[in-house]
Amino acid sequence: MEMKIAIDGPAGAGKSTLSRVLARDLGFVYIDTGAMYRALTLRAQQRGINLHDDPALCALANSINIHFESRAGIQGVFCDGEDITDAIRSPEVNSEVSIVASHPQVREIMVKKQQNMAQTSNVIMDGRDIGEQVLPDAEFKFFLTAGLQERAQRRAMEMESQGYYIDKNVIEEDMQKRDRMDSEREVGALKILVDSIVIDTSERTADEVLAHILSIIGEG
Ligand code: CDP
Repeated sequence: MEMKIAIDGPAGAGKSTLSRVLARDLGFVYIDTGAMYRALTLRAQQRGINLHDDPALCALANSINIHFESRAGIQGVFCDGEDITDAIRSPEVNSEVSIVASHPQVREIMVKKQQNMAQTSNVIMDGRDIGEQVLPDAEFKFFLTAGLQERAQRRAMEMESQGYYIDKNVIEEDMQKRDRMDSEREVGALKILVDSIVIDTSERTADEVLAHILSIIGEG
């Protein structure tokens, strides 16, 4: 029987950093569902699709093939064979991804894709609705969070390392807006579940969070 670990939380809480190392240490497959919504957003932008056009977005979501390849500690994201790992982290994708992710029918298609990917392996999956919608039977459901300023600071450093120099206040505003949209939408909203294990990463290093989670799942 495969083991599933769900990690949900707001933007910049440290989900992807943690998921990557956790997957490496446990030998699990890491599925970054945010990258999948980002891939869809990027393609919609490139094709000039109106981001409020539900049927057009659903058709696009059904037609694209997204897959991951991990190499040298980096999770490569591919769409129809093209490497879009860097392109999906652009400020343009950041600011519009939550609009795309707000369509219930688009989410239905994406959730199915995610469930299919998780079917045959031990997986760590991160996102917003993983514990509730995608992997409701996950053995462990973590909810990672941190203060807004701390999250914005981390994101600013991450963006800088990718060559984007953006004012911290702008990042903070963007995150706040995205968190609000992600928490208030009708389907797949970000929320703490009754069986979520909440971890505040504000005052903890990535290594400390990893050790804490490993001890909870009995591997520490
Ligand atoms: O890395 P960051 O936390 O900024 O975001 P992400 O995990 O890459 O997700 C980007 C966006 O995709 C989120 O703000 C959500 O709008 C959407 N998303 C979602 O709706 N459901 C998921 N399971 C994952 C992401």
